[in-house]
Amino acid sequence: MNGIISIRGAVTADNSISAISNAAVKLVDRIYFKNNLTDGNVINIVVSVTDDLTAFSAARAIRESGHNVPLMSCEEPNTDGALKGCIRVMVTAVSDLAAHHVYLNGARVLRKDLTSSYSIALDGPSGAGKSTVAKDVASRLKITYLDTGALYRALGLTCLKNGTDPSDAAAAEKCLADAVVAIGYTDGVQRVTVNGADVTAEIRTPEVSMAASAVSAVPYVRKKLLGIQRDIASENSVILDGRDIGTVVLPNAEFKFYLTASAEIRAKRRFDELLSKGQNVTYDSVFNDVITRDRNDSTRSVAPLKRAYDAVEINSDDMTAKQVADLIIHTVCGDVQ
Ligand code: DC
Repeated sequence: MNGIISIRGAVTADNSISAISNAAVKLVDRIYFKNNLTDGNVINIVVSVTDDLTAFSAARAIRESGHNVPLMSCEEPNTDGALKGCIRVMVTAVSDLAAHHVYLNGARVLRKDLTSSYSIALDGPSGAGKSTVAKDVASRLKITYLDTGALYRALGLTCLKNGTDPSDAAAAEKCLADAVVAIGYTDGVQRVTVNGADVTAEIRTPEVSMAASAVSAVPYVRKKLLGIQRDIASENSVILDGRDIGTVVLPNAEFKFYLTASAEIRAKRRFDELLSKGQNVTYDSVFNDVITRDRNDSTRSVAPLKRAYDAVEINSDDMTAKQVADLIIHTVCGDVQ
């Protein structure tokens, strides 16, 4: 027996050709994916846009992306309090499944009931400010924060303690085969354990940073840590910071950001942070570590550091961490909270 379902969706976009096209096509793709649709079982797509989106036709972008179904497009009247820059679609399809509505970017606020759980992927090179920003976003949106680098650090530390070279893939795999890494939260603060021992305080040294970078290139390590990250994301609304969250760990994350800054600024921030923790380092050594880690993290063959094609890039050279967090929250909620 085949039923007819109507699936709704909405997404926000800036008023530019590329923003409107990308948003509309991504929304329809996501609706097709979540509802197991092909053009063969879609009856029609109705698109409406708010009257501030004049740069390009959202419906035309959907047609030009290859969808061959009846499409109708209309403009919404500008009503008081309505979300600005919003593309809405209704897809009518033949299906026996319940409709999965899709609300992306700021449009999420339209249907909080349908989108109670969501994931934010925050990737970028070391020292870009990801963890400061992610902590702030998590606390203001009251969602779970997972610092995924802590997992790699914990395994890098385990290699160092064992006298194993973390860049020797075979040796690292042998050393880490029995290591059970786990994440817990005490008063909202993330803690990481290896075989039950809390290593949270030990993983923040420059030596462990380099060991983490080296061990993170080992395929066995990446496989081992994938499940933990996905499990945490599947149970809660989350923000995960890392290198491959938007590309590998959560490719379907509702929100993706790629946070960058110049190597000099990142080194300066990391240097100040280490000094404030009483560590004895020089700016030059921290700068060299940043360069080396950038090279390691972006040239490894498995899950290298890379911006997901659908991630919003933010350069934080001239931004405070608070401004970056505001921008992310604005994108997620349509408003700063
Ligand atoms: O974010 P961080 O500096 O704590 O990360 C430590 C190292 O772990 C980093 O050099 C690269 C690696 N890492 C990774 O490969 N993938 C992640 N998702 C997070 C960190």
